[in-house]
Amino acid sequence: MNIIFCEDYEEMSRKAAAVIASQIILKPDSTLGLATGSTPIGLYDELVKKYNLGEISFSRIHTYNLDEYIGLAPTHEQSYAYFMNHHLLGKVDINMSNTHLPFGFAKDIEQECRNYTSKLASVSGGLDFQILGMGHNGHIGFNEPDSKFILDTHCIELTKETIEANSRFFGHIDLVPRSAITMGIRPIMNSKQVLFIVNGSAKAEILEKALFGDVTPNVPASILQMHRSLTVVADREALSVVQQLHPEQIY
Ligand code: GLP
Repeated sequence: MNIIFCEDYEEMSRKAAAVIASQIILKPDSTLGLATGSTPIGLYDELVKKYNLGEISFSRIHTYNLDEYIGLAPTHEQSYAYFMNHHLLGKVDINMSNTHLPFGFAKDIEQECRNYTSKLASVSGGLDFQILGMGHNGHIGFNEPDSKFILDTHCIELTKETIEANSRFFGHIDLVPRSAITMGIRPIMNSKQVLFIVNGSAKAEILEKALFGDVTPNVPASILQMHRSLTVVADREALSVVQQLHPEQIY
């Protein structure tokens, strides 16, 4: 595990973008696992800047998103399909047929989960780079705290905490979908590298638990301790507890 300290959100976004841009330069046909939420917005903005400067191209990149709300059409402003188009995919030269998200508006959600699992299984050797943020309760994608790790794509009832946390995007808590489709833990752990980005003091305690506590499905992000190549890029606030308890672990 490599923990990279950043002063603030802007520095975190720039450094995270530098890591992903290097991957794209080194392997222009990379498969990237993409995340949503407020955390990666700055990273995507920086990647769009690099694209506009001609530093990187997405023309041969393939992407696989972590998750999607159930019941939101891709045109809904809070769907993750809309989010990805708005923040990254619609702004670069990616071939949209090479971009993949679970379809939360599918009639048969169980079938959609199986389809997404097969798509991910067809990525030979695993995703090149998985980008991850983390929920306040330690969730990754929408893998919520549970008594077991669920390996493949599945439908999940969102926890009260997650519904509350995400209500800021919807204007009212009643408008937040109650369920979602999420990639399971397997493709995340099979990815060749993980870029884990975290910012803000509200995540300082859970970040320390995730990185140095017990590996447990109660803190889904704790499984990342077992990943073969984990890079954490986080800001001062998010790293405050790690810094107190494990100062030697931070670059
Ligand atoms: C959602 C997404 C996660 C994301 C999390 C954190 O629940 N499914 O992939 O990591 O939000 O969001 P934020 O970055 O806004 O704190």
